Amino acid sequence: KLTVKEIYRETEKYLNKDVKIEGWVRTLRSSKAFGFIEVNDGTFFKNIQIVFDENMENFKDICKLPISSSIVVEGKLDSTPEAKQPFEIKATNISVEGYSNNDYPLQKKRHSFEYLRTIAHLRPRSNTFSAVFRVRSLAAYAIHKFFQERGFVYVHTPIITASDAEGAGEMFRTTILDLENLPLDENKKVDFKEDFFGKETNLTVSGQLEAEAYALAFRNVYTFGPTFRAENSNTARHAAEFWMIEPEIAFADLKDDMNLAEDMMKYVISYCLENAREEMEFFNSFVDKGLFARLENVVNSDFGCITYTEAVDILKKSGESFDYPVEWGMDLQTEHERYITEKVFKKPVFVIDYPKDIKAFYMRLNDDEKTVAAMDLLVPGIGEIIGGSQREERLDVLERRMDEMGLDKEAYWWYLELRKYGGTKHAGYGLGFERAIMYITGMTNIRDVLPFPRTVNSAEF
Ligand code: 4AD
Ligand code: MG
Repeated sequence: KLTVKEIYRETEKYLNKDVKIEGWVRTLRSSKAFGFIEVNDGTFFKNIQIVFDENMENFKDICKLPISSSIVVEGKLDSTPEAKQPFEIKATNISVEGYSNNDYPLQKKRHSFEYLRTIAHLRPRSNTFSAVFRVRSLAAYAIHKFFQERGFVYVHTPIITASDAEGAGEMFRTTILDLENLPLDENKKVDFKEDFFGKETNLTVSGQLEAEAYALAFRNVYTFGPTFRAENSNTARHAAEFWMIEPEIAFADLKDDMNLAEDMMKYVISYCLENAREEMEFFNSFVDKGLFARLENVVNSDFGCITYTEAVDILKKSGESFDYPVEWGMDLQTEHERYITEKVFKKPVFVIDYPKDIKAFYMRLNDDEKTVAAMDLLVPGIGEIIGGSQREERLDVLERRMDEMGLDKEAYWWYLELRKYGGTKHAGYGLGFERAIMYITGMTNIRDVLPFPRTVNSAEF
């Protein structure tokens, strides 16, 4: 048994030999005496062409096969140098594993991404989504490879947690459903026990605080896991459930943090360009014609870096009429981020040293006492893709900041102890995995890079 990937990669080895493959019918056309099937076997982006003729005893049955039927094909691999595909299988036997139906929703014509979202269970069989989700898988592997090759320890931070890592309160609470007291009629409310065995808990918004604990033991660590945010933002870049990569490095400052982020981005992009050549070519031809030029520019350029204050100056002097006028102290909106990275730098750019009041409590206070050692990485087409900072390692300053922000220090007791027992300067960041995949593939909606997206008003599957 052979995969289509092996046939494409080592064609010489299999030419003029008997081969056997399994896969799904993507297209089928036939005449009285012969027919052609394009089969995709799932191992490779490209299809393989099968030729069959009336000498096959089930010829008539095969001619009527609906798209997406699963079949097993035996035959000889023939070279066809003058045709579009350099080889095809001349079938001696085709058996049907499972018939599809003529109402199969993914017929050959092009479908809108909106429509394909309504059939999230079938869309991985289309070209676009086959490419997206193989690249997603490869990019995840590349990220692990990047960190593991550098000696980082992978920490599995908890999904259910008692701490609010961002202090922003955008959390999904966990509850225990009391099955004994389910409502018998619609007037009776469901009785939730609003606690996790006696403790209030939520789904994690970030594994950072726990990663910090491990960085202060292993030095360099990372997490890579699902993250949940109950923010009600119905945009093309926000999901309620998304994946985040969060490295945390000890004995390191903001500059080290940015260098790591830049190296990682370049590594992952290069890895996908090299190892998903067919998929990436598809994106460059059919999804975003400027993709290769842009990605090659990213890999070969040095990322830009400006302070928040400089960014505000640039935006104010730009003469653009933004929906949100810019003032020092406000959070940058996507329109501002995109202006900076698309119009001014035309490449990825770090914005650093944000006002302390718009950033999380754990970011290290700068000497000006007004800004913190934060960094956001902005990229063309998307805006913020990474958020990170140097962490406040000074216990007294951290406690003061938490008081200012009205946080309950008791709840963060263990986090504060990290500063008490051999704390050191350290830093880290979070890369939104879906935003990275959008950036690498040119896809423009987060719903189209998550297998089964959980966004506002969409959790059908
Ligand atoms: O900027 P954020 O909120 O930073 C943190 O959570 C830090 N604790 C990370 C750290 O320093 N370890 O989120 C980091 C990134 C964002 O830049 C964005 O790419 C992504 O996570 N992100 C989202 N992606 C999809 N949907 C959402 N609702 C997202 N919220 C954040
Ligand atoms: Mg952020």
